[in-house]
Amino acid sequence: MDLFSAIDTEPIRQRMEFLAEELDRLNYEYYMNDRSLVSDEEFDGMMRELQDLERQYPELASPLSPTKRVGGEVNKSFRQVEHRFPMLSLGNTYSIEEIEDFEGRTRKLLDGIPFTYTCELKYDGVAIGLTYRHGKLVQAVTRGNGRVGDDITLNAKTIPTIPLTLRGEYPDDFEARGEVVYPFEAFNAMNVQRESEGEEPFANPRNAASGSLKLQDSAECAKRKLMFCMYFMMAPDGVSLPDTHFGRLEWAKQMGFKVQPYIQECKDIDEIKAFIDYWDHARWNLPFGIDGIVIKVNQTPLWDRLGLTAKSPRWAIAYKFKAERVSTPLESISYQVGRTGVVTPVANLKPVWLGGTTVKRATLVNADFIARMDIHIGDHLFIEKGGEIIPKVVGVDMDKRSEGSMPVQYIVCCPECGTPLVRVEGEAGHYCPNADGCHPQIIGRLEHFVGRKAMDIESLGSERLELLYKVGLVKNVADIYDLKREQLIGLGSGSVEENKASTGGTIQEKGADNLLAAIEASKQVPFERVVFALGIRYVGEVGAKKLARYFKNIDALMDAEESELAQVEDVGEVTARAVHDWFACEEHRGVIARLKAAGLQMNVELGSQSAELEGMTFVVSGVFERFSREDIKADIERHGGKVSGSVSSKTTYLLAGEKMGPEKLKKAEKLGVKILTEQDYLQMTAQ
Ligand code: IVH
Repeated sequence: MDLFSAIDTEPIRQRMEFLAEELDRLNYEYYMNDRSLVSDEEFDGMMRELQDLERQYPELASPLSPTKRVGGEVNKSFRQVEHRFPMLSLGNTYSIEEIEDFEGRTRKLLDGIPFTYTCELKYDGVAIGLTYRHGKLVQAVTRGNGRVGDDITLNAKTIPTIPLTLRGEYPDDFEARGEVVYPFEAFNAMNVQRESEGEEPFANPRNAASGSLKLQDSAECAKRKLMFCMYFMMAPDGVSLPDTHFGRLEWAKQMGFKVQPYIQECKDIDEIKAFIDYWDHARWNLPFGIDGIVIKVNQTPLWDRLGLTAKSPRWAIAYKFKAERVSTPLESISYQVGRTGVVTPVANLKPVWLGGTTVKRATLVNADFIARMDIHIGDHLFIEKGGEIIPKVVGVDMDKRSEGSMPVQYIVCCPECGTPLVRVEGEAGHYCPNADGCHPQIIGRLEHFVGRKAMDIESLGSERLELLYKVGLVKNVADIYDLKREQLIGLGSGSVEENKASTGGTIQEKGADNLLAAIEASKQVPFERVVFALGIRYVGEVGAKKLARYFKNIDALMDAEESELAQVEDVGEVTARAVHDWFACEEHRGVIARLKAAGLQMNVELGSQSAELEGMTFVVSGVFERFSREDIKADIERHGGKVSGSVSSKTTYLLAGEKMGPEKLKKAEKLGVKILTEQDYLQMTAQ
């Protein structure tokens, strides 16, 4: 017997059990009943204690411990799993007449049997199914194609409104279905944070919720503050459930699920219509998004009688709200200049409440858009917000146009530097050609260069760049690599006349060292990201990757003819010209020479990039042992191959992991596409 097994772990086990139960109870009270029974510090302290104990005694840790809510485990790949009960979708409509038809048809089919309806909210999120056995969460799966979805159990465990262990009485084996939504407050806060970190904000809460469930790091998912709204329960034969939908949801609530209280039993079409009317307006007061109302027959034994159509049940229907639209006065137009000089007109609107937020601005896209809409000075504009968070101008409210109003005259000079604007034939936008003298272009280019997807020099935020530019230390991207420690220390203290406006704080010794270290580290950023960082018009991440891989080094890329550039996959004529013109500029060539001398990666790293798989197209499916699916795709690309999503006659190989979908396999066999195992692939690439 060794020393450790001699320790009596029973008191420790009891303490862990106590902490887990207490944390579960506090979590339940907080998220379900809006009750804080202890301070945040106390809660965090208990959580940390349990985490520490679990680290020390992993054999005593439960897979359903409340510490799983904090996340930390990494999803290697999202295993595809078949749903035990297919996840059907609902028939949906935007028309009240079709709801009347549905009601009439249902009544007729039920032929005098007494029944009622339930009306509830149609949550605008991501559908998932949760399997519970003996009161414990065993699996969480996304809807996927309704038959097969992704196993997202680790991430689901971080959502506080998903019970890990159930309370009171529960069926021994059942599935709870519902929608994961991103509440507006958490969504907006996340977008503010993303923007401050130079990341693209999410377009809408639904996409963001879906992306969050597929995050590799469950601790990241925990930070998203998602919410689960339960709306459906089903069980295998032999497990009995209440015989009304309403009753099932009531029971679910007692088990600890978050069931929104906005559900109503309706006896006829008038009550259904009243519910729809009410929520068409009231929905904007909800803390999360809904996109309609779901109407279900309440008595579940009647569901079998009504049956299914090809895709959806006959006992339920969804009414979808139309996008909300308001009209509001156009107060003025601002013109924003981006890093490539492109000018974007923006409508400054009289603030108006729309779709849960106040709208003050909306893009007017370009001069053509303004002309096509025939927008006049002083017009009232119609603004719409559908599933998107970003409001759109969809037209002019002609009833409110004043007589003799004049069409908007597009500006002719740059609002920032006064240079006459240029419009390239065939392009819709105007741009300012004064690339080196126009402030937002200079700062925009620097910001792009240091951005996360480019050189990733995190400690160089907008304010720092602005400061370095103002004091004359950084005028172009190559200057970043000439910065010296002594130039940086004390900067921002106001000692230099031009610093005064800066709010970036004084750079201390440590800050200077960190900054220089980050700059040094950026010299290892791969060539394709260097190409992206240059900020050439139309060259996005993908284009940069393709250019880098095609030309292999900066000299070949720099001297390429327009026609050769256009040969590269995904590079069109317009982009080819932009790349050619960019490198034709003497100043740019000078910058490249300095970046090269500074030691940035100016060619595709040999070894990590090869051409073994050149000309081959792979379709990847299933689960792999050595790689996650994303990693294996990246590996194929690194070896010069292409990856495609579906099997076609152009596919060279189907790379088949375990548990892959049968369709792809069937199709590959039919088309005579060769099927590779992970082992075959490793051999082929000599790994
Ligand atoms: S019931 C078999 N109820 O809307 C019926 N669905 O096509 C199961 N949804 O993907 C669905 N809120 O994810 C139901 N209160 C609600 C819902 C709801 C949102 C989603 C569901 C499905 C889609 C309908």
